[in-house]
Amino acid sequence: MNLIPAFLLIHLFTVGAGLWLFPAYAGQSVTLKSPPASLEQWYKPINKRQRWLHTMFKLRREMQAIGENADIGDKAATLKWIKRLDKHYNEIAEMVPEWEKEIKPRLIPELEMFAEKGDTYRLGKTLKMIKRTCDDCHTVYQPLVTAIYRAPHYDDIRIKNKKGQSQSFEENMEDLSASVNRILIALDDGRNTVASEAGKKLANELQNLGDSCDRCHKDDDYPRERILGKATRLRFETLQEAITEGRVRDSQKLMGEIAVTVCARCHNIHRIVHDLRDALLLDE
Ligand code: HEC
Ligand code: HEC
Ligand code: HEC
Repeated sequence: MNLIPAFLLIHLFTVGAGLWLFPAYAGQSVTLKSPPASLEQWYKPINKRQRWLHTMFKLRREMQAIGENADIGDKAATLKWIKRLDKHYNEIAEMVPEWEKEIKPRLIPELEMFAEKGDTYRLGKTLKMIKRTCDDCHTVYQPLVTAIYRAPHYDDIRIKNKKGQSQSFEENMEDLSASVNRILIALDDGRNTVASEAGKKLANELQNLGDSCDRCHKDDDYPRERILGKATRLRFETLQEAITEGRVRDSQKLMGEIAVTVCARCHNIHRIVHDLRDALLLDE
């Protein structure tokens, strides 16, 4: 009997806390700015590599190396990494001149001076000041840059069926969705032939979709196998048997499995990022 009041108490408490927090939470907003156009040249397809991103990885490694080497008192190594940081930190404004005011290159000679003197304390402080310029830019620009230049997009993918007709990715998705629901409706209404036909149609549509995976997954069969491979083919075979034998509950269960292991699994990897990108780039 003691459990019930305790549960209620916790419940009321969390609801109360939720209400308390709500106004502050609702008032929060983030400002994201579009990056300068000159950034584009440092990304695929204009650039052969994701140049900007690789410069960023170098910066992070250099910051870490400077801090760690200063801590163990290896002056030569600290100075070596400061030289590299100097080069790449300044590259930010060389690559994207509009971002010149976002960095503080004068901090690098200071860093060097403190390293020469073995003043680890002030070296650490200066590293923190540099780190703040990294963080300030990231807060405002990073999410949109990642969305624009690195999130996969599906708009230019055409999906072909066996007759050679082609459709967009989105049209294929709408067909998949219609087929899934046609199967479920027909099972519910006791129309096995319709369910069976729709089951075959769904398997075909997924097959056609599967031919488009290598647009992005070049020379890698594993992603397709993971979602549309043997396990999925087996489920579709079992589904046909179940429908033909009039086992409605088994068929529904298999449809549930297909929805999770095929549709939801693929959506969790690709669609969430796609939809987020679309939402962020509303005005494009
Ligand atoms: C590549 C893996 C992949 C698989 C497998 C997949 N989807 Fe999708 N789906 C996506 C992506 C990516 C989007 C967003 C792209 C778009 O809308 O253009 C999407 C969008 C959708 C949409 C929204 C379409 C719209 O009008 O915006 C529906 C509905 C949908 N999928 C249904 C399904 C169903 C049902 C299945 C399973 C039978 C399925 N999908 C399997 C990747 C997949
Ligand atoms: C003027 C803007 C700007 C400054 C200054 C800047 N960055 Fe970046 N950084 C970016 C942008 C934009 C991205 C997103 C790139 C992407 O996702 O392709 C990024 C991404 C990164 C990433 C990749 C994160 C990830 O795992 O995806 C790292 C690491 C990074 N920056 C390190 C640094 C360090 C360290 C500094 C400072 C020494 C720094 N950056 C300064 C703009 C900046
Ligand atoms: C527009 C590009 C694009 C298309 C088309 C695409 N994917 Fe992906 N997929 C990605 C990206 C990006 C990742 C994450 C990075 C990676 O693992 O390569 C990913 C990751 C995956 C993963 C997780 C990583 C792994 O290897 O297990 C699976 C599974 C997957 N995709 C399956 C598929 C299937 C199946 C299709 C076709 C029906 C497909 N993808 C089509 C871009 C795409």
